[in-house]
Amino acid sequence: MSDRTIGYIVGSISSTSINRRLAKALERLAPAGTTLVEIPIKDLPFYSPDHDADYPAVATEFKNAIDEVDGVIIVTPEYSRSIPGVLKNALDWAARPWGQGSFDGKPTAVIGTSQGGIATAAAQQHLT
Ligand SMILES: Cc1cc2nc3c(=O)[nH]c(=O)nc-3n(C[C@H](O)[C@H](O)[C@H](O)COP(=O)(O)O)c2cc1C
Repeated sequence: MSDRTIGYIVGSISSTSINRRLAKALERLAPAGTTLVEIPIKDLPFYSPDHDADYPAVATEFKNAIDEVDGVIIVTPEYSRSIPGVLKNALDWAARPWGQGSFDGKPTAVIGTSQGGIATAAAQQHLT
């Protein structure tokens, strides 16, 4: 099988993120021929349609990073029974400008962990 690169997005910007630790474990467990690389979101400003005609460089880099990988894994915490705002903000950048959605046709998987009883079931459901 040919080599492939999978990008991962961690939906937490916490310095002690357990979801980042989960992502690092996935990096280590990746099978031969598969490389996992992080697609960072922490420097993205708040999305606004005002940016659609002229995306800032950091957002263009984010979209290019998604374009360049064969698939994406979203590693998400659950905040208030949904996904964290920082992740939603990143996904909104990816979805625009209209007609240029970065996830269109992109194989994407979702995983997450929390200390809560239902883990990240609600957050993951919101991503599907
Ligand atoms: C604002 C906020 C809301 C949270 N809401 C939930 C929740 O709805 N369900 C849950 O299982 N954990 C919830 N948690 C706990 C998180 O699962 C826990 O903080 C986890 O460590 C976050 O992931 P991270 O360490 O990767 O940032 C919440 C935490 C915060 C800070």
